[in-house]
Amino acid sequence: MECSWKTVLLLVCASLGVQYTAIHTLRDSLSGPCQGAYHSLCDDSWLPVESYRKHILLFATTRSGSSFTGQLLNQHPAIFYVFEPLYHVQQAFTNSSSRLRRTLDRRALLGAYRDLLLNLYTCDFHFMENYIRPEPQDHVTGSFFRRSSSHALCSPPVCPEGGDGGATGSPDEIWCPKKCGSLNLTLASMSCLSRGHVAIKTVRIPEVGDLRTLTEDPRLDLKIIHLVRDPRAILASRMMAFSDQFRAWKIWNATGRQPRYVDLSQITSTCKDMTASAETGLQRPAWLRGRYLLVRYEDLAFNPKDKAIEIYRFVGLELEEKVRSWIARNTNSNVSSPSEWNHRYSTTRDSRVTAESWRLRLSFDIVRTLQNLCNDTLTLLGYKQVHSVAELRNLSHSLVEPRTFSPAT
Ligand SMILES: *[C@@H]1O[C@H](CO)[C@@H](O)[C@H](O)[C@H]1NC(C)=O
Ligand SMILES: *[C@@H]1O[C@H](CO)[C@@H](O)[C@H](O)[C@H]1NC(C)=O
Ligand SMILES: *[C@@H]1O[C@H](CO)[C@@H](O)[C@H](O)[C@H]1NC(C)=O
Ligand SMILES: *[C@@H]1O[C@H](CO)[C@@H](O)[C@H](O)[C@H]1NC(C)=O
Ligand SMILES: *[C@@H]1O[C@H](CO)[C@@H](O)[C@H](O)[C@H]1NC(C)=O
Ligand SMILES: *[C@@H]1O[C@H](CO)[C@@H](O)[C@H](O)[C@H]1NC(C)=O
Repeated sequence: MECSWKTVLLLVCASLGVQYTAIHTLRDSLSGPCQGAYHSLCDDSWLPVESYRKHILLFATTRSGSSFTGQLLNQHPAIFYVFEPLYHVQQAFTNSSSRLRRTLDRRALLGAYRDLLLNLYTCDFHFMENYIRPEPQDHVTGSFFRRSSSHALCSPPVCPEGGDGGATGSPDEIWCPKKCGSLNLTLASMSCLSRGHVAIKTVRIPEVGDLRTLTEDPRLDLKIIHLVRDPRAILASRMMAFSDQFRAWKIWNATGRQPRYVDLSQITSTCKDMTASAETGLQRPAWLRGRYLLVRYEDLAFNPKDKAIEIYRFVGLELEEKVRSWIARNTNSNVSSPSEWNHRYSTTRDSRVTAESWRLRLSFDIVRTLQNLCNDTLTLLGYKQVHSVAELRNLSHSLVEPRTFSPAT
């Protein structure tokens, strides 16, 4: 079959046209006039909406500080932020009758991830209904994963009860589940369209190469923030957060003896994926040009304001006052309420202390093993190895080498 470039072009244009119409229809059904500084959507200049929207991906790994980093995006009034929507896809694709929850088909799973991201970036939240369990009724669900982590899903129009920032200024997680009831996905789509930009955080995509079809998609202007962290810190944090799964590691940590059944494969593949993605990104292939920013969590934790500025410059948006004040409130040693410390995924805490605490929490034996497993990763990202317990525990001796990973061009 012959398929000329004209046909291809026609198809692309047709699909853009359909999308433009669909967006208009949904937008027209939004109640109320266009208000506020962010609704440049509403002026009638003929620009397809998608050419101006930013599509931001916070690309991270479990316990790499992505909840904290995500807050920098979540606080922005013109960003519609979604916390790990791919959770639902993974649930649907794993064999729940098997104790280890095996993934049935990796390639199909990655394809489904990609499709969901594309649909969410264009604000089609109904697409999620294919994966959410139990199946939503009349586009309404009570099972949206970590809905309270998305400020937009806890404020009007999605949640009429949710004032701006919550009436008390307390984190959405505390009051949103009680006040907001079930989630109407149609309203979520409308709210998404009414904000200028979409940011999604995920820890489920293995490598940046798996995102290539999205960076090349003419409908998107994708910006990837690749968040990395010292793998020794990632491991310590996983041991604290998922103690059941890490029982063997905890025994190792406590006894100084490595159990034979300890699973080294998970952290090894974390390191492998992190290295592969950073290498790809730093080589700046054409399909990633201007779309990739490497951020070390430690730099963000030690210097949140400067890093936030860098991130916002990269995505091409203003660093709003709300983001600045969130940083001010959450990155000094003055934690407002002790209860917030106990939340497993809490982001409200001293970022500097958190970033370093692994050095007091891991036995030297574990650290040494990890340094061998993740040698390349540590070297590439500028994390120093330690050679004694004294060096490990001496917090005035920094293990983070100053580095600038050249900004995206
Ligand atoms: C799911 O796992 C169970 C137990 O391991 C196995 O018997 C079953 O065949 C699996 N189902 C599929 C669809 O692979
Ligand atoms: C969800 O919101 C849409 C748009 O406001 C509305 O038309 C629909 O009735 C709502 N669905 C339910 C079940 O309330
Ligand atoms: C903590 O906050 C209080 C009141 O908000 C202030 O008086 C105090 O100086 C702060 N301490 C530090 C270490 O920032
Ligand atoms: C490792 O053991 C030390 C004490 O030996 C303990 O303070 C620390 O919390 C443990 N770390 C983890 C991650 O469980
Ligand atoms: C770690 O990697 C560096 C550079 O790749 C190499 O020089 C060094 O010998 C390696 N160390 C270990 C313990 O494998
Ligand atoms: C801790 O590290 C600092 C900076 O490298 C060094 O000056 C100091 O002597 C070290 N302290 C100990 C007790 O080793």
